[in-house]
Amino acid sequence: MNWHSLLLFLHVTSFAVWFGTIFASLFFLRTLEPKLTGSSGDAQEYRTFLFTYIKLETKVADAGFKTAVATGLLLALFFHGWTLWVFVKIGLVALQVALTMGYIVKAIQPLAYPCSTDAYRKWYNLFAISLGMFALVLAVTFFLL
Ligand code: HEM
Repeated sequence: MNWHSLLLFLHVTSFAVWFGTIFASLFFLRTLEPKLTGSSGDAQEYRTFLFTYIKLETKVADAGFKTAVATGLLLALFFHGWTLWVFVKIGLVALQVALTMGYIVKAIQPLAYPCSTDAYRKWYNLFAISLGMFALVLAVTFFLL
């Protein structure tokens, strides 16, 4: 059994699962935008759809995130070593979690539907923060680690 390949496989696959849920959410939020910002009267029904989706998505994203972190730490411990860039990567992942959670509490949770298109744009800011941080972590991984 090649443990390094197995850990790397789990690390990259769980990252892909986590990353994939973010993109799926972006498309879902984009699809719901006219319903959650319009005045057609069915915003409450679509709000329920959104919350059901978020509940399901969070479970998968959480599992992907935890597996990516656990396998990343094991890779550093047993194969790669605790280099400066591993610590930079850990710091960036922690920052990503803090920024996204902070923004959700501050800007997303207070939204009430239907809302204005301007207010709805906060969802896209959240994706910009999350995907921007993914880009930084991946840049460190492929060019510096
Ligand atoms: C605390 C969190 C993390 C730690 C400690 C960590 C650590 C590592 C280490 C040590 C490697 C090198 C494995 C080796 O070849 O021996 C690696 C590879 C990799 N990591 Fe992470 N990682 C973490 C989180 C992440 C996240 C969040 C992502 C995605 C955004 C990610 C994406 C990758 C990818 C794609 C590779 C494969 C690179 C390659 O094969 O050249 N990692 N990680």
